[in-house]
Amino acid sequence: MAMATTNRHLAKEPFNIHEDEIPLDDASTQSHTQCDDDDADNAEDYEDHLDDEAEDDGHETPDEDGDSDSSSASDENEPIDLTVQHDMEKLQTTFPDFKDNYRLIKRIGEGTFSTVYKAEDMQYHRYDNKWDIDAKDHQWTPPPLRSALHAKSEPMSRHTRRKPKFVAIKKIYVTSSPARILNELELLHDLKDSLSVCPLITAFRHADQVLAILPYFRHQDFRRYYPNMTIYDMRVYFRSLFTALAAVHEKGIIHRDIKPTNFLYDPEKKRGVLVDFGLAEREGTDCKPCLCHEDRQVRKQRLHQSVAFSSAHAGPQPGYPKNDTRPSRRANRAGTRGFRAPEVLFKCTEQTTKIDIWSAGVILLTILCKRFPFFNSADDVEAMIEIATIFGSKRMKQAGQLHGCMFDTNIPTIGVQGFSFEKIMLWSTCRSDGKDAKTNALTEEERGAIEFLTRCMDLDPGRRISAEEALRHEFLQVDREEEAEMDEEEVMML
Ligand SMILES: Nc1ncnc2c1ncn2[C@@H]1O[C@H](COP(=O)(O)OP(=O)(O)OP(=O)(O)O)[C@@H](O)[C@H]1O
Ligand SMILES: [Mg+2]
Repeated sequence: MAMATTNRHLAKEPFNIHEDEIPLDDASTQSHTQCDDDDADNAEDYEDHLDDEAEDDGHETPDEDGDSDSSSASDENEPIDLTVQHDMEKLQTTFPDFKDNYRLIKRIGEGTFSTVYKAEDMQYHRYDNKWDIDAKDHQWTPPPLRSALHAKSEPMSRHTRRKPKFVAIKKIYVTSSPARILNELELLHDLKDSLSVCPLITAFRHADQVLAILPYFRHQDFRRYYPNMTIYDMRVYFRSLFTALAAVHEKGIIHRDIKPTNFLYDPEKKRGVLVDFGLAEREGTDCKPCLCHEDRQVRKQRLHQSVAFSSAHAGPQPGYPKNDTRPSRRANRAGTRGFRAPEVLFKCTEQTTKIDIWSAGVILLTILCKRFPFFNSADDVEAMIEIATIFGSKRMKQAGQLHGCMFDTNIPTIGVQGFSFEKIMLWSTCRSDGKDAKTNALTEEERGAIEFLTRCMDLDPGRRISAEEALRHEFLQVDREEEAEMDEEEVMML
């Protein structure tokens, strides 16, 4: 494996050739290893990896960490599991100079593809940290309270104690393919200027072990705050999420794994960042033309031909053929179950950034219905059944035809017309059984949320709202409202 020198913090050049930036107070550069793309490709079949692992329950990594940067003292006191402690020690000894650079604090996430640790960045103040959006806020902790007399005899540096800076260290499992690791790091590097995407500070490699160093982003566990979210909170949350999606999609990148654990949100600051580009890809990668991108007329014609062909060959039969002669269809299905867009389930071969919009819609549906996870299927067929139960068989058939697929079902719970999101929300929040007509009807702002949800969860990716359009949608106009409110307050004060 070739070794290369990386910079410690962000550089302007493409990821694999960037140079060290000189530390602010030290001209000497540090030499760290970097993941090279000439690594032997010992990866397992990527599709299998995703199918088996991305669908595993372990994919949801709860982060019990609702703390802030200033609460590091409580972190220190938390008991650490012995095996985690052992892993932390191993990590520190694997990488030369690790201890001089970072102080591991605790494990904050254990996902399908990595383990993430919180650590203190010991060398932060020696570098240019353009990525640090909080840097201007509070760089110094207030000096400890002491008597003036005592203070005189103390050197100045003891009083202006630097506020510790935290990073998230993502230890990518060695079983991940080098190409996938490089892809994640490259995409993160491409997105380094997007404030709503957690930037990559740097990366290290030692043999087959790769570490990605990200700024630690203070956030709360979704399960803790979503049950109490008001419609206004949702609008703020989704403004933040769609701002991130717009930035990612503008670069032609599909995230592919939008879900609450990959959008780290701080309800206090009302700010969130997108993480985990492990499954992300550039739009158009490994694409083959799909019917959904054809003109409506062409699509109709092709479907007629195919229906005529199948009726000439005995027509649709119950069950499934033992010797299926149809050519198999391969499409990227990477993602998390319950959040996969219908076109992913129908194995569309020309998927677009719209798959992320569907997943964002699933998050909104979850919050509105106060049920997490909302969808709970074991596989793609069950996922289709869940979606068909809501949308009805008629619309589901049309959705399949968009991608040249026939959808059919005799499951009695799947009706022809399906149900409206309004009904589903009322049922799930137990507001349809009471006698009180008021609670049984949606408020005006809830109707606004449902309208926005309908735009995000459109079965047809071509008609589904884009992130850019969403930011102009009425539901996400929170900044202007806040500004108007502030103006009003100012007028009142005058
Ligand atoms: N920059 C960060 N700041 C704070 N916490 C983070 C950061 N990055 C990741 N985490 C925590 O670690 C968890 C796992 O990170 P990430 O999603 O990148 O890894 P993963 O292995 O792909 O996880 P999964 O398989 O669950 O999607 C996140 O859900 C989050 O709780
Ligand atoms: Mg994740």
